[in-house]
Amino acid sequence: MDSANAPERETVAHLLVDAAVWAPSAHNTQPWWFETHGRTVTLHADAERRLDVADPQGREMLISCGAALFTLRLAVRRLGRMPEVRMASDPDRPGLIADVTMGEPRPVTDEERRMYDQIKRRRTHRGGFRAGALPVGLLQSLRAHACAENAFLRIVADPRVRVALAALSEVAEQVQCMDPAFVAEVARWAPTPCSERLDGVHETAYPRDPDHTDPYFAGRDFARGQGWGLVGGERREATGVVAVLTTTGDGRDDWLRAGQALQRALLRATEDDVSAAFHTQALEVPELREFVRTRFCDGTYPQMMMRFGVADDEFGSVRRPAADVVVGEL
Ligand SMILES: Cc1cc2nc3c(=O)[nH]c(=O)nc-3n(C[C@H](O)[C@H](O)[C@H](O)COP(=O)(O)O)c2cc1C
Repeated sequence: MDSANAPERETVAHLLVDAAVWAPSAHNTQPWWFETHGRTVTLHADAERRLDVADPQGREMLISCGAALFTLRLAVRRLGRMPEVRMASDPDRPGLIADVTMGEPRPVTDEERRMYDQIKRRRTHRGGFRAGALPVGLLQSLRAHACAENAFLRIVADPRVRVALAALSEVAEQVQCMDPAFVAEVARWAPTPCSERLDGVHETAYPRDPDHTDPYFAGRDFARGQGWGLVGGERREATGVVAVLTTTGDGRDDWLRAGQALQRALLRATEDDVSAAFHTQALEVPELREFVRTRFCDGTYPQMMMRFGVADDEFGSVRRPAADVVVGEL
């Protein structure tokens, strides 16, 4: 290695991974690890962190990795370089996702700078939203950002469809809670209060008494009847804007695309202080997912169900530090 450039390279790799780990992931499993070689960061899925019960195909795992991939790309742009992304598909190494290399210099735009600044600010919301409309033009912008990643953000304007999707999330939540394997899996990723674990959904990430919105989208039962969760905060009873992120296909590349589109839209929303709450239970029950696909998505494949709105709560989240998820020099 050219020793004169070594410190700079280390800083660059650290900066990229340090941003990528803040991507959202199902149950905060953080199902990824990274390899660094000079100015290339290789993203790998970590199948040991996949949700075997909720996500046997690894769809949500790859959506999460897609979100990390978008974050890596954005972090490269923040350094004033073009990301060169080489998607991997090696049947012998199914966890290998992509190489991201610092390419030619090109000045970072204000839009990219603003989006980058949201990476560590963005938080998943759980509960109701403040009443009122979202900033003018935001939904159009979110759709354009999803589209730029070859996914569709379908805004659900029909109140009957909102009610139907809310009911499906409740059905799915009940069905999952009746399955001991599923309940055990949630328990595995919802640590007890004051845990020092750096993954999973901690008690600072969800409310003790969830707001009851109308229609009501069921939340996950991370507290499992133990009375855990954040207390206080004002009651917010607006459901917010309901949206479904979809793709035309339903394979590995589509899931990675969905994840990139997801993170891009979430970061754009965060710029306007708009948060997203996710309700993916219905998409984890195959019959319900198929129902959502055929009835409400014009046959495109639903990958994420969510609500957007303005929240005031300060939910917390944790991450494993870059040094814990990198193999190679950092
Ligand atoms: C594929 C996927 C599915 C998710 N499903 C849900 C969900 O159904 N309910 C929920 O409360 N959060 C859901 N989340 C949000 C994660 O729990 C969240 O990203 C993680 O706990 C990290 O917290 P943060 O987003 O605040 O950084 C999902 C995230 C992803 C990427």
